[in-house]
Amino acid sequence: MISRARFTFYDLAPGEESFRDAVLNGLGRTPKSIPCKFFYDARGSALFEAICRLPEYYPTRTEVAILEENAAEIAAQIGPHSRLIEFGSGASTKARILLRALDRPAAYVPVDISREHLRDAAISLAEDFPSLAVVAVCADYTRPFPLPPLPGPSGKRVGFFPGSTIGNFEPDAAVDFLANYARILGAGGEMLIGVDLKKDPAILDAAYNDRAGVTAKFNLNLIERINRELDGDLDIDRFEHVAFYNEAEGRIEIYLRSLANQEAWIAGTPILFAEGELIHTEYSYKYSVPEFRALAAEANFRPVDTWTDPAELFSVHYFRVG
Ligand code: TRP
Repeated sequence: MISRARFTFYDLAPGEESFRDAVLNGLGRTPKSIPCKFFYDARGSALFEAICRLPEYYPTRTEVAILEENAAEIAAQIGPHSRLIEFGSGASTKARILLRALDRPAAYVPVDISREHLRDAAISLAEDFPSLAVVAVCADYTRPFPLPPLPGPSGKRVGFFPGSTIGNFEPDAAVDFLANYARILGAGGEMLIGVDLKKDPAILDAAYNDRAGVTAKFNLNLIERINRELDGDLDIDRFEHVAFYNEAEGRIEIYLRSLANQEAWIAGTPILFAEGELIHTEYSYKYSVPEFRALAAEANFRPVDTWTDPAELFSVHYFRVG
């Protein structure tokens, strides 16, 4: 049984952009696109977890290894009584590595838009860390929101943003996002953030075009989700997964390609696709250590330390606000 003093749930009732509006807007334009946040319905989330276990998809296991390898040093940098604030906390798997290493952390604040998943993950974490206060916040972290009062003696506020999710924003939006995070953390706040590094394009291409085809299924799940939820009649066999590294832009580009001239109905609206037409679904930007430090500087973060794996596939940065 977890006491009320130790577990609080704040529901800031994030206004959900409807899948229907996003799809009809995104497919009604040229070039076509669908926002990447819609990948993560129940099936998409399960497929993404499978991606994280693929031999070609190095980011997840590499970041976990960096955190485990350097946990003591990271914990020393953070210091005692910290309040760890994670945006997009999901199952809180990576936060557990930090929480195990930290010196008497005062609070863990998981922030996520997915209400039930957040509640389950936060309760399970509170059970496993009996002296930690858990303050779960259901909010859309891409927009400013008020942080609830945090318990405990006044340790630092430390943001945690793993998974190279920052790479899924275009650089200008990434700066805006980080500036908002800096405001929420406040003066004296610090941030630990995972960022995928630039590397041999062959490694990057393989990570987003796995041999087992799980990434293709994950991307094509958007087509199936449209059919399931929006009364669509898209022919899944006439779309394919496309992902490649654009070296000039420093990003993986992910699309769905129409394999024929075709018309489909979505929520009572006809949509035309030309043969070869691309629907943009995601970018995943890759940054060298100096490139990412320059980007963070624009959002008022100063570099403190950076950890990487021996093969230099992935980086974990520590920044201070101001
Ligand atoms: N945030 C992940 C990344 O950029 C998401 C991801 C991995 C992804 N594989 C994908 C998104 C394939 C779309 C398609 O690495």
